[in-house]
Amino acid sequence: MKKIFSIVLFGVMCLHAEAQVTIIPKPVSVEIGKGIKRWDSPVSVIADKSIQDVADLFSASLKAKGISIAEKISKGKNTITLKISSDKSIPDEGYKLSISNSGAEITASSPAGIFYATQSFLQLLTSTNETPLVKINDYPRFAYRGLHLDVGRHMYPVEFIKKYIDVMAYHKFNRFHWHLTEDQGWRIEIKKYPRLTSVGGFRKESPVGRATTKTRASVVYDGKPYGGFYTQKVIKEVVAFAKARHVTVIPEIEMPGHAQAALAAYPNLGCTEGPYETATTWGVFQDVFCAGKEETFTFMQDVLDEVLALFPGEYIHIGGDECPKTRWEACPHCQKRIADEKLKDEHELQSYFINRIEKYLNSKGRQIIGWDEILEGGLAPNATVMSWRGEEGGIAAAKQKHNVIMTPGKWVYLDYYQDTAKTEPIAIIGYTPVSKVYSYEPIPPQLSAEEAKYVIGSQCNVWSEYMKTPEHVEYMVYPRASAMSEVLWSPKESRNYDDFLERMKAHGGRLKAMNVNYAKHIEREQK
Ligand code: ACM
Ligand code: ZN
Repeated sequence: MKKIFSIVLFGVMCLHAEAQVTIIPKPVSVEIGKGIKRWDSPVSVIADKSIQDVADLFSASLKAKGISIAEKISKGKNTITLKISSDKSIPDEGYKLSISNSGAEITASSPAGIFYATQSFLQLLTSTNETPLVKINDYPRFAYRGLHLDVGRHMYPVEFIKKYIDVMAYHKFNRFHWHLTEDQGWRIEIKKYPRLTSVGGFRKESPVGRATTKTRASVVYDGKPYGGFYTQKVIKEVVAFAKARHVTVIPEIEMPGHAQAALAAYPNLGCTEGPYETATTWGVFQDVFCAGKEETFTFMQDVLDEVLALFPGEYIHIGGDECPKTRWEACPHCQKRIADEKLKDEHELQSYFINRIEKYLNSKGRQIIGWDEILEGGLAPNATVMSWRGEEGGIAAAKQKHNVIMTPGKWVYLDYYQDTAKTEPIAIIGYTPVSKVYSYEPIPPQLSAEEAKYVIGSQCNVWSEYMKTPEHVEYMVYPRASAMSEVLWSPKESRNYDDFLERMKAHGGRLKAMNVNYAKHIEREQK
């Protein structure tokens, strides 16, 4: 009888836990105690010296929520202690968070873990500055948890880029893939090549709708010049802002395709030498960097030298997608390169291009990521593959023992429609509601357990041709990225869409408090 009673009681306590702990992404394990802790008198945040920066950021967030922070640290009931622990049982980026009536204690084996614990704490905090009493043990499923943003088609104020990173970090994403160069705009200041931004940073007009036929002639344009770019000063600010939130910024410098803005600025880098103009609508363009001329590689290395000085992370994304080979087929420089290097065809020429850039970046201590087209013609020896045209590229790369980031369009492209209503703003294609993102499984069944280890994570991509404003970006990204955070962080076994919908009721309030213009479609599904 006693046993039955305790099982029932345990069940009630678990329900209680579900009702109160609504953290997204869902933690690995949560034990909930009886009662609540009020954080009403001045709170002392005590931290090891090595994590004082995390503590300061946390104190600032608490203050912004109206909690008073003690001027002088004092140990007592309103103390939150942050500690780096040598406890080997805490995985990298993982943490333990314990809240009792006598205060809160956070332990982790890394500063990132401490940071994630503070984000969980902030999510636990109610609008009346209370938290449940909990013991949380938490760590991520995947090491690479990415969110991408295309600023080539449309760009956004730097304050928005910071907010985007801040909201990502709140969801425990740790990689911001910043797509900085495109046919429609080159957005990163390169001091050695000022025309990249003065010419390539601007297009003469933008599309207001979709092409009604297969040719671009049927696109309707707004007739308004558009453009801009991020200075190196501003980029440094963004990288530092991200670092403080344990987000690594991965810049993407597209090559050899999606190069029309760069070619408009420096036509000598194209096979036909132009003239070219910055593209006015999205798509795939025939004019790409010439792979035959040495000056293309000199240019690329010069650009990358400046990029490396701005972005200290391990990875540089070099694009590699959607590069038509028609110009190379007709170009004497490219054909000479094919002959001199004894290459079989233009696919091997693309591989030559990527290999050469990889070698350069490896010599500087960096690694490349490329879209899955870099498999064609042979993978560069150390490349990480970002699989976007489905999972096939990722599967092939993992079988070749290359690291893989899964970003298959149908599941994780947030420029796809999220609803079928006619009132939805124009989007690229597709239909990817929140439930579909939530159902995504980055490890495909075709991989053995050994091969699956090469899938280091996954990422949502956000292509911006139809997103003119920050508000529109947020509408497309949240709560689909909230769903993705759970795919990336939470244990596979604990994924449960109904439970996610339930927690999203509280999480919607948090997004609102952060002034995020999230989409509300899931309210129809929430009971
Ligand atoms: C891509 O979506 N073109 C990588
Ligand atoms: Zn050429």
